Amino acid sequence: MAREFRRVGVVGLGIQGAGVAEVFARAGIDVVGVEIDADGVERGRALVEHSTERAVAGEKLTAAERDALLARIGYSANLADLASCDLVVEAVTENLQLKASVFAELDKVLPAETILASNTSSLSVTEIGVHTGRPERVVGLHFFNPAPVLKLVEVVRTVVTEPDVIEDVVALVERVGKTALVIGDRAGFISNSLLFSYLNHAVLMYEQRYATREDLDAAMRYGCGYPMGPLALLDLIGLDIASEILDTMYKQSRDRLHAPAPLLKQMITAGMLGRKTGRGFYTYEEPGSPVVVPDALTPRPAGEDAVAARDVSRVGVIGTGTMATGIVEVFAKKGFDVVLRARSAEKADGAVAKVRKSLDRQVAKGRLSEEDRDRTLARIVPAVEFDELAECDLVIEAVAEDLAVKRAVFGALDEVCKPGTVLATTTSSLPVIECAAATSRPGDVVGLHFFNPAPVMKLVEVVHTIATNGDVVATAHAICAKVGKHPVHCGDRAGFIVNALLFPYLNDAVKMVAAHYAPSEDIDTAMKAACGLPMGPFELLDVVGLDVSLAIQRTLYNEFREPGFAPSPLLEHLVTAGRLGRKTGKGFRDYT
Ligand code: 3HC
Repeated sequence: MAREFRRVGVVGLGIQGAGVAEVFARAGIDVVGVEIDADGVERGRALVEHSTERAVAGEKLTAAERDALLARIGYSANLADLASCDLVVEAVTENLQLKASVFAELDKVLPAETILASNTSSLSVTEIGVHTGRPERVVGLHFFNPAPVLKLVEVVRTVVTEPDVIEDVVALVERVGKTALVIGDRAGFISNSLLFSYLNHAVLMYEQRYATREDLDAAMRYGCGYPMGPLALLDLIGLDIASEILDTMYKQSRDRLHAPAPLLKQMITAGMLGRKTGRGFYTYEEPGSPVVVPDALTPRPAGEDAVAARDVSRVGVIGTGTMATGIVEVFAKKGFDVVLRARSAEKADGAVAKVRKSLDRQVAKGRLSEEDRDRTLARIVPAVEFDELAECDLVIEAVAEDLAVKRAVFGALDEVCKPGTVLATTTSSLPVIECAAATSRPGDVVGLHFFNPAPVMKLVEVVHTIATNGDVVATAHAICAKVGKHPVHCGDRAGFIVNALLFPYLNDAVKMVAAHYAPSEDIDTAMKAACGLPMGPFELLDVVGLDVSLAIQRTLYNEFREPGFAPSPLLEHLVTAGRLGRKTGKGFRDYT
């Protein structure tokens, strides 16, 4: 007979514990929340009240439902008050000794049949469970922050947890409207293990001053559709918690990518723990507030740059592929005269036809008028000779991702373009400085990495080399603003920002499958439901193409020589076998 869960206890009413209490109470279950003392109880109560107030404001709850929810939660500073609970979830600080002592105490005061759960993010549930006389009734129940919003709960089974306990806990998780994933007891489980390597990597980039906090965050939001950037997310999670999680992961993996970035330790020591202390990577209105306020690091508004941008009215685009035609469309639509240069007149006409097709689709959907389509097309001049680019103020190269081909293009541009023309490459993986070095004017060369499809994706990575002039960077910035794109700035390193953060995470996910920790479907579910990502890593790999992904991962590995960046052998084998993702009908999944 399945257990009935009428009353649930929650020990520790910090952000996570308060969120967990809210989730159960919302589903009609009585909750007893326990904190260390009366002050702790009041803080916990305030968190639940604040969160449910937001739920009412966001029309997720009616005022009457909120009142009923709040009435279902009782508070106490005494563990013995949990005696009538069918399940107790521990959500105290991420520290093994503390958790073990709470479990030992709970074991003494609770009836033998009560199930004990830990909301640990990374510690071993097995190790926590052995401090009780009932390890077979101990599970991990890992919620994500904010618990009332995010759907995933990782249900961690140890080698001794009884199967019926897991079954009943999964049923409970589903009853409260969450998605349960049952997994084994490994540091970081599925989601944190993948998420925190990526977050740590972003901190390292920031620490190395590779990009600003705003640009790192904007890159992942606009480039990958993530709900938050990595540094803003760390502020939400709490830097102290993040550091503990990374430390636990490091102790198990000995992978130095899991060693907490030194900056984290400095910030924690200085009390900059994130939103909860009012300061972390960003500064907040007050402790606990999600509202960011300007501080000394806030960039000056656009247009207040010390360096003036160059004038741009005529733009050249070289290439006829998807990126090239997308970029042509972006500029022509915004009123720029565009010279589209192809290797033959037929190819140039074909490329213009592609732009026309894209514009026709927008007309059919009512997003563009026929007049605007015709005006846009009239601004595009097809060309074959490089000479025809002579008067352009900006030329963007979007030819094949082959260094020799790109260098030849830059050499040719150097011959014909008027002095002062900004020369840009859309390369996603090659060094921009190689293109610059093929010209006699490296100061005029910059990377403008558009994302596919260019007319849709808001992000452009502006890549400056060691030689790029300040006014060229300012021009790139101004031009992005004019065409409605969000520019982020970074140096000339493999992967720039987005690919350097994204692909190691995707590769880690492949390694997780290769290690048989979880199937790819579960990992996809986990990352979407735990972190609100638009796609799971395997869905994304199959869309990008496994061959392209492998090439990017190899580039990153070759640049940084970081052992943790070595491509997963499973990824290599899939590529060797011709399973390249959607384009071949088979990748991690089969497509019909
Ligand atoms: N109950 C129900 N819904 C609520 C709510 C509550 N108590 N409080 C807020 N909401 C709703 C809001 O009404 C809003 O709904 P809407 O989108 O339909 O309008 C939605 O939740 C989002 O709320 P907000 O207005 O607060 O803010 P944002 O739109 O800025 O979203 C965010 C904030 C939900 C944090 C989002 O940015 C997000 O999902 N970020 C990713 C967070 C993430 O990755 N978490 C995992 C961290 S790792 C972790 O927790 C593991 C641990 O071990 C450390």
